[in-house]
Amino acid sequence: MKRVFSGVQPSGNLTIGNYLGALRQFTELQQDHECFFCVVDLHALTLPQEPDTLRAKTLEVAGLILAAGLDPKRIVLFVQSHVPAHAELCWLLNGVTYTGELSRMTQYKDKAKGRKVITAGLLNYPILMAADILLYRSDLVPVGADQKQHLELARDIAIRFNNRFGNTFVVPEPFIPKVGAKIAALDDPSKKMSKSDVAESYIALLDPPDVVAAKLGRAVTDSGREVRYDAKEKPGVSNLLTIYALCRGMSVKKAEADFAGLGYAVFKKTVAEAVNETLRPIQTRYREFTSSGAVRQVLVEGAGRAAEASSLVLRQVKEKMGLLV
Ligand code: AMP
Ligand code: TRP
Repeated sequence: MKRVFSGVQPSGNLTIGNYLGALRQFTELQQDHECFFCVVDLHALTLPQEPDTLRAKTLEVAGLILAAGLDPKRIVLFVQSHVPAHAELCWLLNGVTYTGELSRMTQYKDKAKGRKVITAGLLNYPILMAADILLYRSDLVPVGADQKQHLELARDIAIRFNNRFGNTFVVPEPFIPKVGAKIAALDDPSKKMSKSDVAESYIALLDPPDVVAAKLGRAVTDSGREVRYDAKEKPGVSNLLTIYALCRGMSVKKAEADFAGLGYAVFKKTVAEAVNETLRPIQTRYREFTSSGAVRQVLVEGAGRAAEASSLVLRQVKEKMGLLV
């Protein structure tokens, strides 16, 4: 069975972008893959976090990953900092990664822009991500389009290490959805929807129905009247059409046909209904998972299984690099 690994940062409210770009794929892959999903709290520390909020969000994100439709009996879900092997392998891979590779990353450049000080963590972020993936000898990594470059670096690090020290790592493949890999922000369709932006810009998985309707009602479109997919000329409308199509499980073409001759107000209202129908079962399961206290238990078991699954690779890496083990 092929191995799958993916991570989600607990740095804010999970959005419909996270769901459509990543979590939805997790639920499909769990059927016939051995899956490891990780709440990557160490990654969140590369930007300033309020400690109590980070702790609360770590539990919330874990609950939402489960609520998205994952079966805790089938998958391993755990918190990154609970398995020290991630930080250890990250350090070891620091020795085979070049600063030029890191400073070229577009996410680094975007996040560093306008900051007075830039932490080393922000630069080294992709090494930790490579460690996450390579530690489990993962074959497939389901992510949104924004992570493609990080994944290419993880592949380069794996290939370089294997060449230098002998075959150790599996070279992972990205698993990026054809539609929905980059859901745009509601208030600015030229940007990706991000959980660390203002609340108006995203639909959170825990937003109540009236909030979803209000946010979509205010979503930026254009001065035209036609509901048509045209990513260049009509990015706002195209983004909402994509969200609608994915929520309804139909093609964008079919979604377009649903709105032929209808105005933007009806369009937005119907998109809100589709989004709310998608969120309702997630929110219900989330309440069930949190009220039963099941999330904590899943994370404890998950950390144990992840530590076990990763120990051999970490030991091999240490031996190959010349540490006294
Ligand atoms: P993050 O919120 O950065 O931890 O992302 C968790 C997962 O969601 C990653 O696989 C991202 O690529 C994916 N993701 C985040 N934002 C979006 C978005 N706007 N559209 C599609 N996928 C996204
Ligand atoms: N960098 C990813 C993001 O921000 C999160 C992440 C960390 C991840 N480690 C990973 C994703 C390993 C996939 C595999 O979205």
